[in-house]
Amino acid sequence: MFKRFNKQESSNGAPAAAPSLVPSAKAAPADKTQAPAAPKPDKKAKSDKVKPAAPKSVTVDPKETKRMDRLLEIRMDLHKRLLESLNLAALDKASEEDLKHEIALISREGLRDMDIVLNSADQKQLNIDLLDEVTGLGPIEVLLRDDTVNDILINGSQQIFVERAGVLELTTVKFKDEKHLMRIIDKIVSAVGRRVDESSPYVDARLADGSRFNAMVPPCAVDGSLVSIRKFTKEKLSIDQLIKFGAFTEAMATYLQAAVATRLNIIVSGGTGSGKTTTLNALSGFIGDEERIVTIEDTAELQLQQVHIGRMESRPPNVEGKGEVSQRDLLRNALRMRPDRIIVGETRGDEVIDMLQAMNTGHDGSMTTIHANSARDAVSRLENMIAMTGVELPLVASRAQISSAVDLMVQISRLPDGSRRMVSITEITGMEGEIISMQEIFKFQRTGMDEDGKIQGKFVSGGLRSHFTERFRQWGYDLPSSIYTDADQ
Ligand SMILES: Nc1ncnc2c1ncn2[C@@H]1O[C@H](COP(=O)(O)OP(=O)(O)O)[C@@H](O)[C@H]1O
Ligand SMILES: [Mg+2]
Repeated sequence: MFKRFNKQESSNGAPAAAPSLVPSAKAAPADKTQAPAAPKPDKKAKSDKVKPAAPKSVTVDPKETKRMDRLLEIRMDLHKRLLESLNLAALDKASEEDLKHEIALISREGLRDMDIVLNSADQKQLNIDLLDEVTGLGPIEVLLRDDTVNDILINGSQQIFVERAGVLELTTVKFKDEKHLMRIIDKIVSAVGRRVDESSPYVDARLADGSRFNAMVPPCAVDGSLVSIRKFTKEKLSIDQLIKFGAFTEAMATYLQAAVATRLNIIVSGGTGSGKTTTLNALSGFIGDEERIVTIEDTAELQLQQVHIGRMESRPPNVEGKGEVSQRDLLRNALRMRPDRIIVGETRGDEVIDMLQAMNTGHDGSMTTIHANSARDAVSRLENMIAMTGVELPLVASRAQISSAVDLMVQISRLPDGSRRMVSITEITGMEGEIISMQEIFKFQRTGMDEDGKIQGKFVSGGLRSHFTERFRQWGYDLPSSIYTDADQ
């Protein structure tokens, strides 16, 4: 259990009274106060420069495939019958029991008419599938229910992948054909008042349970509709769980606690699915309950635990191209809502200008994420975004703006073995000439890979004292120096 650092009360930023603080995050053993020795490369460990593991696939014997295809066909026939005989208007009101009963009756009749005899297990499964088809999203309903599945990726009707624990695997789930897949896509998008067809071939939507949904249909999708579903995880990972999973260490958590509590402006950077939103969410846990937080997202995903939160979501234009409310519009409006902190789910466009300005003008402690591969890369991204807005700002002025707005870069990475780690915590310390100066406080150092393809390594500190040490101290976070050596675990 991560024990939070106990803030020392001190008024007006006066130095905290007690000079020696017992580290509450983790008592450092006396012999660990030395700076960590550089890790020795493990000769036995395999080179970790291998490609990401190929997706796991489920091997099914051809006979079984045939049987399943046949069952799928039967299911589609029966579904057609169901649609003809069920009273669709009454469907919403019917209880699940009634519906199950009705489905069982119609399917039994249908099978008899078609001269098909199924064993009782197949019959039972058929009825469950039919219920999913009528009330839910058909074949993928079972994947949506499966809590171990994070993402569902559909490449045409015959190929459905899922991601579990960071690893992709091919499933045996299939749609009958493209028409079947299209019907389910239509069901999803029409439920949220959108449409998708040849003239507007892609759509972004949120499912009723909060999952994110994206579909691209032919002809833009060449081999059949492409669907990606990022499932909404009800339980967001907590700081404790992230530490347990090895995403970062207790020492790093203590540092981050101080960084958030003392209102540093933080950018979480990483690739798609690397855990940026998860990290942002976990970091927000360090914000006090007395602050007013305003969140701005393209798809509302953040689940902050505080009481005082205003959540906003941008809106794409409608079919006539009207009615768009961009993140930038929301951000500008947010400034009039007296926020203590602004959290932007992901900065990707012209809202960057307003974000940096907000960070520079009294909305300290604001946070956002950005799609980049390193702290340096994140800065280039910011520079590019600024340039793209059309604001005529010399590069060095952009950099000055960035360096004074952003205090901390937290880099997240999804490693080839599927694990997600905070690979670097880097402070922005100012400008040296035309270059933004940075110092890395913690990083993940890879040492190799074990037989199972799991990446080995440890978190090390750069041996540098935080640039914000004085600020931390003034705010009552006189962090013990051991956190910089304790990172080594
Ligand atoms: N450290 C971690 N360990 C295990 N799973 C994680 C970790 N961080 C994130 N995840 C999971 O990875 C998925 C993608 O995370 P998310 O934060 O949405 O990524 P991003 O915002 O970078 O696209 C989620 O299902 C999340 O629960
Ligand atoms: Mg995200």
